[in-house]
Amino acid sequence: MFITFEGMEGCGKSTQVNKLVEHFIRLGHDVLQTLEPGGSKLGQDLRRILLDPKNSDLASTSELFLYLADRAQHLATTIRPALENGRLIICDRFADSTIVYQGYGRGLDIKVLHQFNEVAVQGHWPDLTILLDVDPRVGLGRALNRNKRQQVADTQGRFEAEHLAFHTRVRDGYLSWAALNRKRFAVIDGSQDPDTVFSNILCVLEERGFV
Ligand code: TMP
Repeated sequence: MFITFEGMEGCGKSTQVNKLVEHFIRLGHDVLQTLEPGGSKLGQDLRRILLDPKNSDLASTSELFLYLADRAQHLATTIRPALENGRLIICDRFADSTIVYQGYGRGLDIKVLHQFNEVAVQGHWPDLTILLDVDPRVGLGRALNRNKRQQVADTQGRFEAEHLAFHTRVRDGYLSWAALNRKRFAVIDGSQDPDTVFSNILCVLEERGFV
């Protein structure tokens, strides 16, 4: 089973990923918790580059190829071996982030991005993708506060530094892409308190026969 989480900055993904991983471990599953960018050794270096605000001049196409390199390596060294060993994978962001951020957000051609994604994922699409939906103002506000609290704004804040218009395109892009991929996506309101969001996630898993 391969489950991914998606959503804009500050939507609450990390909290919910942690909760779901703990839940499945309690049920006795062998769980791999991973993320993009950064789910491989090479990916950890790519993540630093991709989130660093000093790289604000990164061309959209260079940014795209770095995310794709991260994904291809993640797939080859982390995800595929875990799937082959029958592990349950819970991944914070995956190929849909490229469609939404580089496509809807930066304006690159979505059909082309989908083809590149196919090359990177080699048929290993998630069984379920949970989209945590929040108003861009709420998400951005939460993300900026978190970066300040953790003192990482100067090293990891490249996307948070984008204008509200960019984040609004990302939010709307996610909703459009989820509507086009209804079978795989579940959209959950991420503005509620974390326990309510989590119980809604468990309901979706039950409804779709995952638990
Ligand atoms: P996060 O994992 O801390 O949310 O940060 C990752 C950032 O990278 C986030 O702003 C979304 C962005 N991103 C893309 O633009 N394209 C991608 O393909 C992926 C995986 C992430």
